[in-house]
Amino acid sequence: MKIAMGADHGGVALKAELAARLVDQGHEVIDLGTHGPDGVDYPDYAHAVADLVVSGGADRGILVCGTGQGMAMAANKVPGVRAGVVSDTFSATMIAEHNDAKILCLGARVVGPGLAAAIVDSYMGASFAGGRHARRVGKIEPA
Ligand code: RB5
Repeated sequence: MKIAMGADHGGVALKAELAARLVDQGHEVIDLGTHGPDGVDYPDYAHAVADLVVSGGADRGILVCGTGQGMAMAANKVPGVRAGVVSDTFSATMIAEHNDAKILCLGARVVGPGLAAAIVDSYMGASFAGGRHARRVGKIEPA
């Protein structure tokens, strides 16, 4: 899969670890930054990843900040995007299977690297179930 990734200063180290792991697993990672520890504004990276996913330039996105919350709020402002903050492996599977979320948001100050890797594995291993979930997902966007 082609995965767009973004982080602010709070998530940059975890992003690098997860990106290396995804590449090892055979995925293509498009790293949209940030690349260093200097303070940056998370919406800039959330919007860049969301735009790429919505345009079809990436299959899925992963965003990392301190809590994941700001990234999700910003990404979900891009029309057509469904992004969710996840801190457990069950929800990681469900946001793909039931919500067809194309963007996973993680909080590097909330989950450790081992749990984050397991969350990403669960998310990447799941796909949209369709059926009744397609009807529900279709009702998320305002008419
Ligand atoms: C940055 O300090 C922090 O606010 C950011 O990483 C994130 O947690 C926002 O949601």
